Amino acid sequence: MSEEFQRAQAFSPQPVSVRQALQEGTKFLSQMGVESARLDAELLLGRVMGWGREKLYLNYEVPLGTHGRAMYHFFLRRRARREPISYITGQREFWSLDFLVTPEVLVPRAETELLIEVVLEVLGQVHKNFPLKVLDLGTGSGAIAVSLAKEWGDIEIWAGDLSREALEIARTNAARQGVKEKIHFFQGDLFESFRGQLGFFHVVVSNPPYVRRDEMQNLPPEVRDWEPRLAWDGGLDGLDLYRRIIQEGHLYLTDGGFMVLEIGADMRDKVSRLFTGVGTYSESSVFQDYAGRDRVFVARKLP
Ligand SMILES: C[S@@+](CC[C@H](N)C(=O)[O-])C[C@H]1O[C@@H](n2cnc3c(N)ncnc32)[C@H](O)[C@@H]1O
Repeated sequence: MSEEFQRAQAFSPQPVSVRQALQEGTKFLSQMGVESARLDAELLLGRVMGWGREKLYLNYEVPLGTHGRAMYHFFLRRRARREPISYITGQREFWSLDFLVTPEVLVPRAETELLIEVVLEVLGQVHKNFPLKVLDLGTGSGAIAVSLAKEWGDIEIWAGDLSREALEIARTNAARQGVKEKIHFFQGDLFESFRGQLGFFHVVVSNPPYVRRDEMQNLPPEVRDWEPRLAWDGGLDGLDLYRRIIQEGHLYLTDGGFMVLEIGADMRDKVSRLFTGVGTYSESSVFQDYAGRDRVFVARKLP
């Protein structure tokens, strides 16, 4: 059956209730090969109605208006083309905060919340009689910088990204969450905008792009075809940005400051060798995510 034929058949021309709309949407998305079809149909219909999933369940028999149906069908067709759900709804929850998300930024991942937990832990180890200074490299939507600014009272954050468009989204997220006074945003290539801040930061944190060239073919279409390549392409061996961040980063850390990096599940040893090669880092540790995979690498600059 052709894709176009399936699409033409997918939606009832009759008025439908919430329950029927969810059934139709789920069937359509699973026919189009979307694995999380039911959940996605609920999220999309929820967005159309302005309701959470619970409210959808409580209003199963409510009819959809003409405008609502048209919008729902538009959303379903976009999802069938594997556009990430967060780009369609324009929203993603991260660290229990609501983030604006557009195709200019990586969709923040649940695993990255571990990075926040680890940074909060190391901030607790830094002397606390002054505002803590943190550098977030490759801030994207601002997920890391904004979450840290919300969580830690006396903190000042510098956040950089090569993408001007991403920074606009990050700024909006900081304003929406009421933390724009605590974050300074800079456009530039890694440390480019921070050259005057040698020995300045207590923590340098980053979730750099880390997909290897040979992994590209296996990426889900949601990532490969929709998320910005700048946000996931880590070069031939996935380590392009790690090399630069680790080699240069210690210059920007205070003595005893911490570097906290998200890593891919198989990168621990390679990243460890990069830190050892520089020679100015001591004590390193690796934290696993909830699936038991290596996810966060921490190294401390020699005091
Ligand atoms: C994996 S995304 C992380 C986004 C966000 N921090 C998060 O965790 O959801 C990597 C980010 O690094 C940025 N980036 C890539 N190369 C960069 C460079 N050379 N200098 C600065 N930022 C860069 C990308 O634009 C992207 O926003």
